[in-house]
Amino acid sequence: MRKNIFLLIIAFSASSLFAQSRWTTEEEEKAIGALLTEMTLVEKIGQMTLFTSDWDQTGPTLREGYQEDIKTGRAGAIFNAHTADYNRDLQRIAVEETRLGIPLIFGYDVVHGYRTIFPIPLGETASWNTPLAEETARIGAREAASAGLHWTFSPVVDIARDPRWGRVMEGNGEDVFLGNAMTEARIKGYQGKDLADPFTLVACAKHYAAYGAAQAGRDYHTVDISERSLRETYLPPFKAAIDAGIGTFMTSFNEVDGQPVSGNYHLLTEILRDEWGFEGFVVTDYTGISEMVPHGIVANEADAGELAVTAGVDMDMQAAVYYNYLEQHVAEGKVELARIDQAVRQILRIKYALGLFEDPYRYNDMERQAANIFTPEHRATARLAARESLVLLKNENNALPLTKSISHLAVIGPLAKSQEDMLGAWHGDGRAEDCVSVLTGIQAAIDKAATISYLPGVAIEGDDESDIPAALAAARLADAVVVVVGEKWNMSGEAASRTSITLPGKQAELIRQLHQIGKLVIVVLLNGRPLDLTNIIDHADAILEAWYPGTEGGHAVADILFGDYAPVGKLPITFPRSVGQVPIYYNMKNTGRPYDPNNKYTSKYLDESNDPLFPFGFGLSYTTFSYGTPTVTKEASTGDFTATVSIEVTNSGKRSGREVVQLYVHDLVGSVTRPLRELKGFQLVDLAAGESKTVEFTLGKEELSFLRRDMTWGMEPGTFDIYIGGDSRASQKVSFEY
Ligand code: NOJ
Repeated sequence: MRKNIFLLIIAFSASSLFAQSRWTTEEEEKAIGALLTEMTLVEKIGQMTLFTSDWDQTGPTLREGYQEDIKTGRAGAIFNAHTADYNRDLQRIAVEETRLGIPLIFGYDVVHGYRTIFPIPLGETASWNTPLAEETARIGAREAASAGLHWTFSPVVDIARDPRWGRVMEGNGEDVFLGNAMTEARIKGYQGKDLADPFTLVACAKHYAAYGAAQAGRDYHTVDISERSLRETYLPPFKAAIDAGIGTFMTSFNEVDGQPVSGNYHLLTEILRDEWGFEGFVVTDYTGISEMVPHGIVANEADAGELAVTAGVDMDMQAAVYYNYLEQHVAEGKVELARIDQAVRQILRIKYALGLFEDPYRYNDMERQAANIFTPEHRATARLAARESLVLLKNENNALPLTKSISHLAVIGPLAKSQEDMLGAWHGDGRAEDCVSVLTGIQAAIDKAATISYLPGVAIEGDDESDIPAALAAARLADAVVVVVGEKWNMSGEAASRTSITLPGKQAELIRQLHQIGKLVIVVLLNGRPLDLTNIIDHADAILEAWYPGTEGGHAVADILFGDYAPVGKLPITFPRSVGQVPIYYNMKNTGRPYDPNNKYTSKYLDESNDPLFPFGFGLSYTTFSYGTPTVTKEASTGDFTATVSIEVTNSGKRSGREVVQLYVHDLVGSVTRPLRELKGFQLVDLAAGESKTVEFTLGKEELSFLRRDMTWGMEPGTFDIYIGGDSRASQKVSFEY
């Protein structure tokens, strides 16, 4: 095959409109041009076609006979097939049995690890630790690339403000600034410095765009938002992904402004290509193209294919619409060959960048696979990442940490012993049997002489309370009770929206009754979305949000419960008091009638406070932090502006700890109304007991700009209030004028 391509380069060396791209050298662009002249239309459409293998599926259609499609050059990409040898066999068909020998690209949802599973992305974002997120992505890539994969359908960069939407677990939560930082870190981790490094994967920013704004939190549902909020809130993480050098984009299932995204020229061409200059390729989500028929934007699949390709979709995942109809469209002049060539070029670029033309089997080495998957080092990082993802929501009278020399601990709850539920959704090749449950983690941490009694008490769902008395009896004998409750792993993720976000089944009742017997009740939560904890908040001495913490989760939970490590996590998403407050997020606007408890005609509820139960950025430690008075110095020169804000932060408690120091901006008056607070800086500060440090933030034009009335980005003159503290209610304030 290499010889073929070499000859083609010589034969075609004069032609190429494309000098080079972010992904390829001039030489490689020429080689792609040469290949394009050699390819038949059917082979080109093959490069634009992605089919799932029969290993796995994440949607309704399973296509049989994909091996035959590879052989005939009609499928250039495969997903849900993994392991070095399995993919080698498929690659061999493409390379040795097709006319041009173009290698396949193999994709998979490596979302929070491949075999070593890290906390779900929302949980990992609670660490606010970007180098850590980069490292876990790097390990995910290392394992997956060793298992024959080239491409991850990650990171999920959707901003999500509706906890009913099950996919909040996959992203970075509600905030743009934090979301951008995590997006960038994960892309760096997956893609490394150079995609040609065979331990990296090409990443995919998804789901473009505004998928998280689904009405009523119902998955796949209609999105209707203004261009302003699209550009201010939902698009920035995608732009950040391009700036970080991402190679691929995935369209979302939803419509935006009446146009399903897989047929949305404005998003896919005007913004993504023309404004942002993206040079990689765009794939649909699953059967996104054929779904445009039920969306009601086209009458049939053939028209859907025409709409998608002209809007800017390069690769059809699973719908087989390009496969079935593109040839005919080109023949009839409905789709220009130049557009097909452009799409194929963008796909081949990434194959080149991955080094697949140089050696298509470079990801298919069995020894490399054995040496790089689920290693002790990877597991150690999983434990560390899980620890940092945990958020301590309540700790009345320092209920935590527990002592390891406790004589009798009752571990209760339907999730206490579960290994499977440590994984969370989108767990790649992660396996339940590899996971450390909370019970096992506790057993490993506690003194050997201690008695641990375990009982589930209730099931996750259902009305059965018959086992509660036995759980209460065990708890009566214990010195403290750890109750592990939450949602089953598949109650969040894709197609997992809920209208109620309280603890399902009788779990709250179990907690209430355990509390009534007067023992210390420590609640550990396993879940993928913000829960309404109003009905348990007064029945727990401590609440530890553990999300789905991954393979080593049980050890990480025990590390925190017994005080080997002080909690550092801070919520990346608001926890409401009730589902009726949704959508609720910290950077709301003031309205013309801001909340006034003494005035009925202000913006509020009759039956509920406006405040969330736990605000964005919130999380307790085993120590406390106090903040000094912030100061600001400004520097302005022609066309430039920076404000430096400093504040002294002190560990005012008795043990060392880490604070996530957060800075929020309020631009008081703008040509369009501004949120009351916007996160514009954060720093992780480690402090010994009694220690103080001065933390400094620099705010430049980028941080202080917004989308003005005329839809251009920029700063406007006026007053800026700056708040600094340990969560989004931060009260230390300083102001400056611009
Ligand atoms: C559907 C999901 O929406 C998407 O996130 C995923 O990458 C694809 N299926 C492939 O599994």
